[in-house]
Amino acid sequence: MIGAGHVGLPTAAALVSLGHRVCCAESDPERLRVLEEGGVPIFEEGLPEVIRQGWREGRLSFVGSAGSAVDDVDFTFLCVPTPERPDGSADLTYLEQAAVQIGPHLRSGSVVVNKSTVPIGSTRLVEQTIARQDITVVSNPEFLREGTAVQDSLRPDRIVVGADDQDAAARVGALFASTGAPLVVTDAATAETIKYVANTFLATKLSFINAVAGLCDAVGADVRDVILGLGYDRRIGFDFLRPGPGWGGSCFPKDTHALLHIAKEAGFDFPLLQSVIDTNEAQTRRIVSKLEQALRDHLRLEATEPVLPGRSVAVWGLTFKAGTDDLRESPALRVVSQILESGAEVRAFDPTLRPHQSVPALPVSLVREWGALGFPASRLERLTVASEATAATEGASALLVLTEWDEFRRVDLPALRAALAEPVLIDARNLLDPGAARAAGFRYVGVGRP
Ligand SMILES: NC(=O)c1ccc[n+]([C@@H]2O[C@H](COP(=O)([O-])OP(=O)(O)OC[C@H]3O[C@@H](n4cnc5c(N)ncnc54)[C@H](O)[C@@H]3O)[C@@H](O)[C@H]2O)c1
Repeated sequence: MIGAGHVGLPTAAALVSLGHRVCCAESDPERLRVLEEGGVPIFEEGLPEVIRQGWREGRLSFVGSAGSAVDDVDFTFLCVPTPERPDGSADLTYLEQAAVQIGPHLRSGSVVVNKSTVPIGSTRLVEQTIARQDITVVSNPEFLREGTAVQDSLRPDRIVVGADDQDAAARVGALFASTGAPLVVTDAATAETIKYVANTFLATKLSFINAVAGLCDAVGADVRDVILGLGYDRRIGFDFLRPGPGWGGSCFPKDTHALLHIAKEAGFDFPLLQSVIDTNEAQTRRIVSKLEQALRDHLRLEATEPVLPGRSVAVWGLTFKAGTDDLRESPALRVVSQILESGAEVRAFDPTLRPHQSVPALPVSLVREWGALGFPASRLERLTVASEATAATEGASALLVLTEWDEFRRVDLPALRAALAEPVLIDARNLLDPGAARAAGFRYVGVGRP
């Protein structure tokens, strides 16, 4: 396994559980140190148990260099990052580096399996970089979801293998045979296309339901009942139809941009996809507007009066969704950045983030992602991260719930009301019961529900 991150580790764990032996190469010294000490560098349910078991049974090991992981193996999985370039295309530097590193060390007859999400034609690129007739390269896109990655790897909906060599495709499929998942064997270009189309379709569903929630706000309908009415239709279903503060994470933003770039390069006009991206960007602004409007209504301010400067806003949830500590491209960070830009201070809480004891007190992962998103570092001076949910709310003018962590559902509403300076509650995930919140004295605002 080349790359022990959000895909590499759950895939390794699944393969170990299925009875295979796995060696993971991880080039990040800090991640490697944690793994070598028996820890797990990412928050993922069920992962520590499987990793520890694999290690105890001697079927899972970790090394620092890709070359030394592959000389004795039948399959080499590439699970390295393919981040977004400034022009929206996928950056293949890590993939090419990995191919260069493993090339000379691969065992003759072994198969290189690319799991990274890559533009059409990248399997060929890996083949050309390795440049060996005795090695087969196949595409095997990964569909796991962070938060349920181990379960998804053990019980995938399907396995897609793209290869010219049908024998190699069958060998890769056989590795996962005991999962019982349907096997889709196709050519490499089609497998690469399937992955982008799957992610952009899911992003489309989310943008669609966020737009529908906006419509419900405008006409006074309840999006939650709209979803019930839709979801029982078997042609539609319930998945990926929950409104929120917009989609994010390490995949959807870069993959929608990458597919748009691929389409453009191929001369195909894809305005639907551009609109999916634009709708998502508008959602961040919509959530901040809800906050401003609710505060303005509560304080009886004129429409022209700025409402956020000098105020303190509490935020619950910073990761891109519940069940993960991943902050990459988190919509919550986008909302927080806009609130800070408006002149307020933000006190945030997230179950997976702890403030540092030293100055600067912000978690390193947060500061890193803030920089990656291109937000001004100066805004961070007005952001603090609390170690408890209640501490973030003391004296704040409003609370925004941005991530759907279960513990936020169970909040003691009267205690929360007592902690906040103003009873303004913006529930961007529709987690709470509006009736109970209003009975506790809150000005409650959800997404697409009265
Ligand atoms: N995160 C997801 O939910 C998800 C789901 C499906 C597909 N993908 C795709 O899988 C790929 C990996 O994503 P991720 O989220 O696991 O990234 P990640 O950053 O969590 O993990 C990648 C790891 O690879 C390591 N690495 C990079 N080059 C290396 C090398 N030459 N040798 C050894 N280690 C190396 C990095 O240090 C890092 O730890 C991306 O293309 C992504 O789009 C991600």
